[in-house]
Amino acid sequence: MATNRSFKDIFESQGRKPEKYEERPIVCVQGLGFVGSAMAVATSIAKSDSSELNFNVIGIDLDTKLGNERIDAINKGKFPFNTNDEFLKKSLEDAYEQHNLIATSDESAFSLGDVIIIDIHLDIDFYDDRPILDFSTLEIAIESIAKHIKKGALIIVETTVPPGTCEKVIVPKLEEILAKRKLSLDDIFLAHSYERVMPGDDYLNSIINFWRVFSGMNKESSDLCEDFLSKIINIDQYPLTRLSSMTSSETAKVLENTYRAVNIALIDEWTKYAELVGIDIFEIVDAIRKRPTHSNMMYPGLGVGGYCLTKDSSFAPAALEQVFGHKNKDFPFSNLSRITNNNMPLHAFSHTLRVFDGDIKNKRVLIFGVSYRQDVGDTRFSPSELYAKECLKHGANIEYFDPHVEFWTELNISSIEQPINFNSYHLLMIAVSHKEFKDFDYNLLDINPSLIIIDAANLLASIGSSRDKYGDRLTILGNGQK
Ligand SMILES: NC(=O)c1ccc[n+]([C@@H]2O[C@H](COP(=O)([O-])OP(=O)(O)OC[C@H]3O[C@@H](n4cnc5c(N)ncnc54)[C@H](O)[C@@H]3O)[C@@H](O)[C@H]2O)c1
Repeated sequence: MATNRSFKDIFESQGRKPEKYEERPIVCVQGLGFVGSAMAVATSIAKSDSSELNFNVIGIDLDTKLGNERIDAINKGKFPFNTNDEFLKKSLEDAYEQHNLIATSDESAFSLGDVIIIDIHLDIDFYDDRPILDFSTLEIAIESIAKHIKKGALIIVETTVPPGTCEKVIVPKLEEILAKRKLSLDDIFLAHSYERVMPGDDYLNSIINFWRVFSGMNKESSDLCEDFLSKIINIDQYPLTRLSSMTSSETAKVLENTYRAVNIALIDEWTKYAELVGIDIFEIVDAIRKRPTHSNMMYPGLGVGGYCLTKDSSFAPAALEQVFGHKNKDFPFSNLSRITNNNMPLHAFSHTLRVFDGDIKNKRVLIFGVSYRQDVGDTRFSPSELYAKECLKHGANIEYFDPHVEFWTELNISSIEQPINFNSYHLLMIAVSHKEFKDFDYNLLDINPSLIIIDAANLLASIGSSRDKYGDRLTILGNGQK
């Protein structure tokens, strides 16, 4: 593949004319997934104090079906994922009009980058419940950067990685490939700064208007990273936090997500307790949350999903052994939180069996919401998936309604459309509290007086519809009151 000479060349290679072309520092974003696509937009709308655009941005993904779909979407000014965030959609349109954002699968574009941001995925596998690290995807990504990176460029790793990855995996890989080009680590800069982006209504703002943590492999790298972040993030309101090493920054990310995973897992046993004792855990948590030190106590739900919370709590336990070489060290809370959270949908499933006296064969189950959280379209590791597959295993039929997910890849089915005929179903499982479900006309359920409802999101109560209306037909997860 020919080496691209300029940002203009890349632009033209995608069939566009760079009419409004201006030279600016170039930022390459590797990986145009949920994080990288939004980061590319955040970077392309960043402006100086004098309202000049700060950067030209090149998004780089793989030459695969998925990678090309994401590249094509961005090159048409469309965000590659379903989103309600009007600010994000409008910003991408602006970037399209400004001619300072383009996407490609040509890895030689890394040679143009003054800053290269890594936003690829890094999965974790389990063997007998033991987390096993596999850095091959990351090593391939690092290799493609190292083959092309120019002297003086800064790499920022935003991917969530096991602690120690930057120093013990990325640095040696960079050194190996750079040496073949007669370059060394001293010729480039490297930093870690993890993403806290939250897809949803405030998707783009969760990058631009949010606190950030970072650290470089040396002072120069930290300084350059700080300088870059301060050009895209509103640091007056959201000051940056510099940590003393890349391993500390990597650890901050996984501890932050583990803290949340443990917090969620804790409520699982209290949910079951409240149901057995006949009390409402929601009113109890509400009471406790008034105390400022306990204001982030979690509510019950169908379970935890998404790409991050389902894996991040395994990264430090795995790294301790497989990166740092400390064998047989216990990490009980973190490991238990993952196992507890991953099994949570089975509790809702046990209610499903209970309400049908253990036999759900041929029962028609309608699931409201199949994304991993409210107001997003991401279905990766969603609790609805485990719940649905458990129902299927026991002979039930599954349909779903989700305004954010037209096609549910994991189950290979499409969302049903409105108006919904509730007469067709035996069970309604309310799994996610999308805004559309809060505004839904639940009077439509009255057409079917024998419809059984399991509300895993406490949604009916939150919109003022109570147990009085549905009686024993309604099960609310975490509320054992009769
Ligand atoms: N999704 C979130 O809400 C979120 C939030 C914070 C942090 N994170 C973290 O950010 C990282 C990215 O997550 P995501 O949700 O965007 O993942 P994703 O799977 O949606 O996207 C990753 C992208 O990287 C591309 N890719 C992989 N290898 C590549 C290579 N060598 N060159 C170019 N592109 C390559 C893939 O094709 C894919 O498009 C993960 O570490 C994740 O844990 C995610």
